[in-house]
Amino acid sequence: MIEKKWWMTTNIYQIYLRSFYDANNDGIGDLLGVKEKLNYLKDLGIGTIWISPHYDSPMDDNGYDVRDFYKVSSDYGDISAFKDLVRSAKEKNMNIVVDLVLNHTSDEHEWFKIAKDPKHPLHNKYHDYYIWQKPKYNNHKERIRPTRWVSWFGGPTWDYNEATDEYYLHIFSKKMPDLNWRNKELREDMKKVIKFWIDLGVDGFRVDASNHLEKNWDFPDGVPGYENFSSIPKHHEYIKELALELFEPYNLLTLGESGGATKDEVLKYVGFDSHEFNLLIHFGHCWADTGYTNDKITGKWSKTDLRVVDIKKSYDHQYKMIEDKGFNLIYWHNHDQPRVVSHYGNTKKYHVESARMLAITLYFMPGTPIVYQGEEIGMTNVMYNDISDFRDVEVFTEYKNMISNGASEKEALQAIKDRSRDNARTPMQWNDRINGGFSKVKPWINTNYNYDLINVEAQDKHKDSILNTYRFILNHRLVDNENIVFGDIKFININDNESFCYINQGKSKDYLVIANFRDYEIKINLDLDDFQDFEYFYGDKISLKSEMILNPYQSSVFIRTKA
Ligand code: GLC
Ligand code: CA
Repeated sequence: MIEKKWWMTTNIYQIYLRSFYDANNDGIGDLLGVKEKLNYLKDLGIGTIWISPHYDSPMDDNGYDVRDFYKVSSDYGDISAFKDLVRSAKEKNMNIVVDLVLNHTSDEHEWFKIAKDPKHPLHNKYHDYYIWQKPKYNNHKERIRPTRWVSWFGGPTWDYNEATDEYYLHIFSKKMPDLNWRNKELREDMKKVIKFWIDLGVDGFRVDASNHLEKNWDFPDGVPGYENFSSIPKHHEYIKELALELFEPYNLLTLGESGGATKDEVLKYVGFDSHEFNLLIHFGHCWADTGYTNDKITGKWSKTDLRVVDIKKSYDHQYKMIEDKGFNLIYWHNHDQPRVVSHYGNTKKYHVESARMLAITLYFMPGTPIVYQGEEIGMTNVMYNDISDFRDVEVFTEYKNMISNGASEKEALQAIKDRSRDNARTPMQWNDRINGGFSKVKPWINTNYNYDLINVEAQDKHKDSILNTYRFILNHRLVDNENIVFGDIKFININDNESFCYINQGKSKDYLVIANFRDYEIKINLDLDDFQDFEYFYGDKISLKSEMILNPYQSSVFIRTKA
């Protein structure tokens, strides 16, 4: 039997602070804006809010580039606004989880400024907080980078520092130098940061880029070289140190981030006795429609037909790796992926149907769920027509890469429109008034112009709206967490590439979910002997038959009470 923890029976909502709600009308979402929307979230069934980085930052990567860990960004408010938010959340019995960026700082962080300046009295100490290598030279005696590793945002991972005649490592943007976690003083400094926010009342951390903390210090060359800065076993030691000293004694919720982890690794991260994280953000289901088509547009930017099978198998695999040795996490997407309704659903004729289908298929599964802001109203990918509308640091390098690989501007723009992280970062659509009710002034990133149709206010009153579907399901999870959250999932026809069906077996009830993931009619076959006594519970009214025809995106939930 699993020992119940508070973070298992809560519903998490991820807020991308910059784009959620601008309470002081300067075009940027803020902490006061979150506070003002707490009742909206409470009604939605949310118990825990994860807020993207709120720290002082030059905003090269919207706050993942931290300049001062002890300060709130003036874009978002100040320490008293933060305390106020925590207090208001507590009054409503809600928890606040903040992003914790451990892998790197901003190049404008005090530590890095000292680290790159050999004349500074504290140079030696802080120089070792970062990762440096001497230049190499080619046959023409020209200075070249220590390795050809490629950063997660495209482009090289090394930039030159004249004053020390060295390169510093950055696996993200060049304004985000990587920290040296082997350095004990750095680790102690980071623990102070963590303790500072614990003392301010946070209930947990989402630990950013957590599988990158350790690097291969032999610095072998290789392209792209990811294996030299991802999932190197020693990073578990750093996480464990933080868990034993801070995360666990304070009963915090911690979410780690790691793609493609093996069973061994997953259990290290979230196994009940392994003292690292509580939940793991995995990505196996996130790109079920990528596929190599040509050399011009590759990786996550390349798009082919959706493999529904891959989504089901990814979750199935995750459940089977963890079993009852840890706890599962379910979510469609975060601020790094396209909008799920554009990605896996339909934004035209079947917008509502497909968004409801996505809600039904995911949120009757076991585990702790995360809903990403705007998902609950079916917000779509950007409708921009010009590359200058985009804001994400990654977009510009990758756009150039595509063009230099031979893509036309049109092809590159289309790939950016389909896949870029900005898709998830347009302002939240609250109503049909100016800027969708996000702000009274021009927002930092353009609002999607479909806010007149897709917004909270418009969906609030409609019983069958996307918003009310989310409200119903999320609140129902709270009522029946025993059977849903702690259930045991079995996919039905897992190899079928059109349907999405499973039974979630609980203690006293079983839930059966039947859905069509396609924009055309499909046929499914069920062995009815296995499905006796199921009764219609929620979604589209269909009756269970051994051979069923499902309309586009039709989805339905059945329930069976155990004797
Ligand atoms: C994580 C974040 C992403 C950020 C990166 C660097 O992957 O989710 O948004 O750019 O880390 O901090
Ligand atoms: Ca603001």
